Amino acid sequence: MDFIPISKLPEKIGYSVNIRGWLHHVRHQGKLIFFVIRDSSGYVQAVAKLEAFNEEDGYTLAQNLTRETAVNATGKIKKDVRAPYNGIELQLSSIRPVINIASPELEYEIRPDSGPQVLADKRHLVLRGERTSDIIRVRDLVTRSLREFFFQRNFTEVTPPTIVQTQVEGGSTLFSFKYFDQEAYLTQSSQLYLETLLPSFENVFCVLPSFRAEKSRTRRHLTEYTHIEAEMAWFEFDDLLEFMEDMIIHVYEFLIPNPLIKKFNLNLQVPIKPFERVSYHKAIELLREFNIKGETGEFLEYGDDITEGPERALVDTINKPTFLTHFPLGMKPFYMKVNTENPKIMNAADLLLPGVGEIIGGSQREDDLERLVAGYKREGLDLNTYYWYTDQRKYGSVPHSGFGLGLERLVQAILSLEHIRDACLYPRLINRATP
Ligand code: 4AD
Repeated sequence: MDFIPISKLPEKIGYSVNIRGWLHHVRHQGKLIFFVIRDSSGYVQAVAKLEAFNEEDGYTLAQNLTRETAVNATGKIKKDVRAPYNGIELQLSSIRPVINIASPELEYEIRPDSGPQVLADKRHLVLRGERTSDIIRVRDLVTRSLREFFFQRNFTEVTPPTIVQTQVEGGSTLFSFKYFDQEAYLTQSSQLYLETLLPSFENVFCVLPSFRAEKSRTRRHLTEYTHIEAEMAWFEFDDLLEFMEDMIIHVYEFLIPNPLIKKFNLNLQVPIKPFERVSYHKAIELLREFNIKGETGEFLEYGDDITEGPERALVDTINKPTFLTHFPLGMKPFYMKVNTENPKIMNAADLLLPGVGEIIGGSQREDDLERLVAGYKREGLDLNTYYWYTDQRKYGSVPHSGFGLGLERLVQAILSLEHIRDACLYPRLINRATP
């Protein structure tokens, strides 16, 4: 039997078709049974009427079908403007379960009023929901658009290891474990490995999980997230900022025409270049001007970390994509380039988006051997462990820059999601690694 994808049904008005999929909704109305059938391409309303069934047991069987039963269905496609999907309806002559009838428990297990705990425990079933699966589809589009952007610019995609023995973003968020008789970590960032590839590939990127033992519960922190990282040779700081702008613009231009985005009812606009550029120094002043205080209830002073709350309030007030740049020396990791004109600041830039705050952390990299070694010392890192990274400055160092983008945070910002957990399949949070 040939099955037609549901998305192709609007072309089949007046014809008899076979489809297969899952019962997304089931509703009984007198002698009529309304189903919404789902496949990976879409949804269609199907209606069962007793007189339309030619097999004797067919209608009785249809009456017993429950939500999430996988079915084969046959019927005629009719135009019906009242039908909820594409103004068409499948008038069934047969609908049969493929293997078995789904357990009816689902109806009372997952309901509109189910609490977050239940929804998290049942994530494997929640992922069948329309909104949830649409978010995952948008995430796929975002990943594709980023890959497309990199490939258009001749980047090579690579896969560095995720079991590592060097920290990148500080010891406090490292997951460490026993690797046979040694200590190892789950990677926080593939950046250092990407940098080692520049002398052969010049432009590289990767799409890999990064792990952070984040002890704080926030709406934008996962313990495992998808990190899209890129590293570019011959890139100075300004080249980096322009590259990140073009990349974000590319993502929005790719997404906006997609009909899926319309389902979210968002008024997405392509951001305009250049994005706002606010130095850390200026940000401290702006926070005061906008009356935004730190977590302690006091205004932040120069040298304080701009933590999540004030950072988001700042970009929400500016209400445009904003680069937060030039952090004080020591506030950011050892690998960032010290500004040559003002050695008290670093050529670093976080990209903040309204609604979420930081979605990208980037910088020009320290290309000078001595200053890099000073960076290790500043952070108390063991030089021996980093011998392979240090070698990059001994053998053919060039100006270079790169960044890491949190995929879930970008999706969260684009779709205005309240919590990052909705932007991934099976969120890993401080209190959850199941299912
Ligand atoms: O700012 P971060 O820590 O930068 C780095 O790891 C650099 N080594 C990346 C690089 O230059 N190649 O992290 C980069 C991005 C953040 O801007 C954020 O979007 C995301 O990774 N991120 C997280 N996303 C979800 N949950 C967490 N716990 C995250 N920590 C960082």
